[in-house]
Amino acid sequence: MKTQILSQNDTLAAAKILNAGGVVAIPTETVYGLAANAFNNAAVRKIFGAKGRPSDNPLIVHISQVDEIYALVQDFTEDAQKLAEAFWPGPLTIILKKSDAISKIVSGGLDSVALRLPEHPVARKIINETGLPLVAPSANTSGRPSPTSAAHVIADLGGKIDAVVDAGRCKFGVESTVISLCEAVPKILRPGAVTLEHIRCVLGNAEIDNAVLNPIEDGVRPISPGTKYKHYAPKADVTILKGTRGAYIDYINNNCSGKNIVALCYDEDIPYLKVSAISYGKEADSTLQAEKLFDSLRAIDKIEGVDAVYARCPSKCGIGLAVYNRLLRAAGFHIIEI
Ligand code: TXA
Ligand code: MG
Repeated sequence: MKTQILSQNDTLAAAKILNAGGVVAIPTETVYGLAANAFNNAAVRKIFGAKGRPSDNPLIVHISQVDEIYALVQDFTEDAQKLAEAFWPGPLTIILKKSDAISKIVSGGLDSVALRLPEHPVARKIINETGLPLVAPSANTSGRPSPTSAAHVIADLGGKIDAVVDAGRCKFGVESTVISLCEAVPKILRPGAVTLEHIRCVLGNAEIDNAVLNPIEDGVRPISPGTKYKHYAPKADVTILKGTRGAYIDYINNNCSGKNIVALCYDEDIPYLKVSAISYGKEADSTLQAEKLFDSLRAIDKIEGVDAVYARCPSKCGIGLAVYNRLLRAAGFHIIEI
């Protein structure tokens, strides 16, 4: 299959492919998503096939007007309305009990559905022009870092999908915050640009799910199926080094002999390191780290013969928690205190 590259002005062409049951990668403010008609099971199956995604990992349904939600859920609860009012359009995904309009293929067999109203004008235009809700997981091969540019999408899915709409780089660079309103207390299953503090200001009460910062224990079924799969990992093993800049630089410079090590660090560290280094932003700027992390993880794979990657440990404040969560998963939760 030849993958068409469409410009951000070609939204009608993208909508036409989606209406005909095709799959198209579309830009959003978080990462690129691989979209299909949420009501067309054959189209939805193509997404699982192209990504190599396990069938029990549910998809987020994207809408362009809040009203569209009523047909998709059993109850648009008061808490959900408050969150939608505060954060939509934007990088927040809300999980509610699904209606019969959502198939088990979309929900991965669960009785809930994840919903998001994105802020990106091109995404909203395409959803509007199809007149349909669109499922859209991140447009990467399962297990790889999420795509923050059309080039990342092509690198993973070129030849496997109908088209990609190129609107340049994504604003946030990490996927949306996912919150479940199906638990006793609203639970953040995946941190993102909308933080726990933002949500507590609106709902009063919310908590971070255990699986955000800890590996799933044997025999425990996670609320979010996605958390049990390895994610974002480059080919070489990643270790997070937790400590000061000085300790990091010493650790790397003293452990590099005979090994092909890559330092995944900050701009300010580079002049002091004696190994190949790839920066994912500046130490004091979590927003920039979020924007750059996935691109930096992909850049590591372009270096030949890397034995190990040692990463600086990001701050957990604000969007920094999302950066930390993605890096933890890339490292398979491997951290060394230095
Ligand atoms: O920013 C984003 O959310 C991007 C853009 C394209 O919108 N989408 C995205 O989708 O990141 P995906 O499929 O890569 O990640 C969705 C996560 C997965 O970990 C999945 O397991 C979880 O959300 N999820 C989806 N539906 C769920 C549900 N009903 N219950 C629990 N977790 C769910
Ligand atoms: Mg994903």
